[in-house]
Amino acid sequence: MKKILTGLKPTGDLTLGNYIGAIKQMTKMQEEYESYIFVADLHALTVPQDPKELRRRIKNFIAMYIACGIDPAKNVIYVQSDNEFIPAISWILECSTYYGEASRMIQFKEKSKENANFSVGLLTYPVLMAADILYVDTDYVPVGIDQKQHVELARDIAIRFNNKYGTTFKIPEPLINASGTKIKDLKDPSKKMSKSEENPAGVISLFDDVNAIRKKIMSATTDSEMRIVFDEENKPGISNLINIVVSLTDKSIKEVEEMFDGKNYGEFKKYVADVVTEKISNIQEKYNGLINSKELDDILDAGALKVRKIAELKYKEMREKVGVVR
Ligand code: TRP
Repeated sequence: MKKILTGLKPTGDLTLGNYIGAIKQMTKMQEEYESYIFVADLHALTVPQDPKELRRRIKNFIAMYIACGIDPAKNVIYVQSDNEFIPAISWILECSTYYGEASRMIQFKEKSKENANFSVGLLTYPVLMAADILYVDTDYVPVGIDQKQHVELARDIAIRFNNKYGTTFKIPEPLINASGTKIKDLKDPSKKMSKSEENPAGVISLFDDVNAIRKKIMSATTDSEMRIVFDEENKPGISNLINIVVSLTDKSIKEVEEMFDGKNYGEFKKYVADVVTEKISNIQEKYNGLINSKELDDILDAGALKVRKIAELKYKEMREKVGVVR
């Protein structure tokens, strides 16, 4: 069976956009691949974090993923920092990475502009990501388009290392999810619903209270017409709401348009709010049962045990090859 591996940084909020755009796709892929999924908590440290808050998020994110349908029986689920071989592997890979290529990463260029005192970790972040990816010998790495360049760097590092020291790593391929619907911000449907958005009115968090969700949907930006039809260019707000319904139900765009033919935006929004709040309350119910459970710790312990074994072997092989061994 082919392998997939993906990591998620425990920063910002998990949103309905993440659920529809990525998590749902992963619940399908888990049926066909040997899947690895982890919380990239070490990656979160590249920018300042509140330790208590970070700690809370690590578990929140994992519990929410499982509540959304990531099945612990079908995925190896773990916390990155539980696998102490990853930073060790990363160091050896750093020494096979050029400063020039790391400093050319778009995300580094953008984020290093935001704060004059940025950390070295911001520069080496993609190499840590390469370590995450390469030790598992994964075939595919499902990521958003913003992470494609980092996966390509991981490939370049792997190819270089293999050429110099002999075949050690499988060359991974990014799997950019093009088919997943991109959910837009409710207040500004020209941009995507983002977990790092400052204005929460346009963003539905999976942790939001259902009344808050209802309010946000009822006050979503639409247009001055009165027609519920799918037209992303001229009616981005309405089209976004239709996309949300289609993604969460088994209805097609056409069926939604027909259901609301001649009805007003208020009626339509009420329906969208019903669909979303029903889905999210189900997820939250599962989440609440998990978040403080022993089951969650057991899942993470088992995941850590499994990946540490894999990483230990790879690290040993790397040490032998580069000569840092007695
Ligand atoms: N850098 C990714 C992000 O910010 C998270 C991540 C870390 C990741 N390591 C990874 C994703 C390995 C895929 C594979 O979203």
